[in-house]
Amino acid sequence: MPRVTLRTSPLHPMFGVEVLGVEGLDVDLRTVTATAGYPALRAAFEEHSLLLFRDQELDDDAHLRFASLFGPIEDRAAGAYGDAPRMDNVSNRLADGTIAAADDLHTLDLSGNQLWHTDSIFLPVPALTNVLAARVLSSSGGETEFASTRVGWRELPEHLRARVGGAVFTHRLAHSRRAISDELVARHLARFPDQRWRSTWRNPVTGDEALYLASHTCAVDDVDGPEAQALVDELVDRCTRPERVYSHAWRPGDVLVWDERAILHRGRPWPYHEERTLASVCVSATEADGLASIRP
Ligand code: OGA
Ligand code: MN
Repeated sequence: MPRVTLRTSPLHPMFGVEVLGVEGLDVDLRTVTATAGYPALRAAFEEHSLLLFRDQELDDDAHLRFASLFGPIEDRAAGAYGDAPRMDNVSNRLADGTIAAADDLHTLDLSGNQLWHTDSIFLPVPALTNVLAARVLSSSGGETEFASTRVGWRELPEHLRARVGGAVFTHRLAHSRRAISDELVARHLARFPDQRWRSTWRNPVTGDEALYLASHTCAVDDVDGPEAQALVDELVDRCTRPERVYSHAWRPGDVLVWDERAILHRGRPWPYHEERTLASVCVSATEADGLASIRP
């Protein structure tokens, strides 16, 4: 098969690329198929962990179809909305059309996205990727920031690698909401039981290991509670040092695709009386994505 050449430009010196085109053509994600385009994009995803596409026109159907090339669409509501996979919009616009107030529980829950995390680490089947598209952008703020935990793992001092390598972490969505709202903690505790995963995820294609943790990480096997929290905080802080962060200022038409196995991300605040809506589709990881490497 002929080698397909992607034209790319770095987003950050250590990870992430903007995909400018495939073999002289602009990229239109609506036209990518499993045999045309996807293999080259998937190879770039494995290598760079974060891909940016500009000037896209993805409606919900095209968005779901493109995301499904990566694997099974994640359904957090597990059938509650019927069998059809659904969009999970990250938005402060409520179902009744109004904009949620700054102190509304929905806004507070959204603000949990402003803590460094990887999506769905708290689910029995964690996510491989999130395909996130701009829909309605605020007049200021609302950036999304990214850091590579592959770089973070590589740059960790030897004593921390020895301490953390092979360790088992426990993850709980409610943990990341504990400083935000007791009601959110109760709600998330009831829905999402703890998950335990090993501290690093090995990419089966490149062989790279990456730290696998989030603000949802609430315990480390064989480490006492407060000390475990200090350890997790130190690991996240090291991964997300300012010089290791790519901050994305959204433009209309932007689509970001990242590798949940190797990226921490967080949202930034915006004027909450303005609408900000991103369309999100997460895809679950499968055995082929190296799930076995994180099983305790
Ligand atoms: C997400 C997320 C951050 C943001 O979609 O998973 O964390 O900037 N979004 O809204
Ligand atoms: Mn997220």
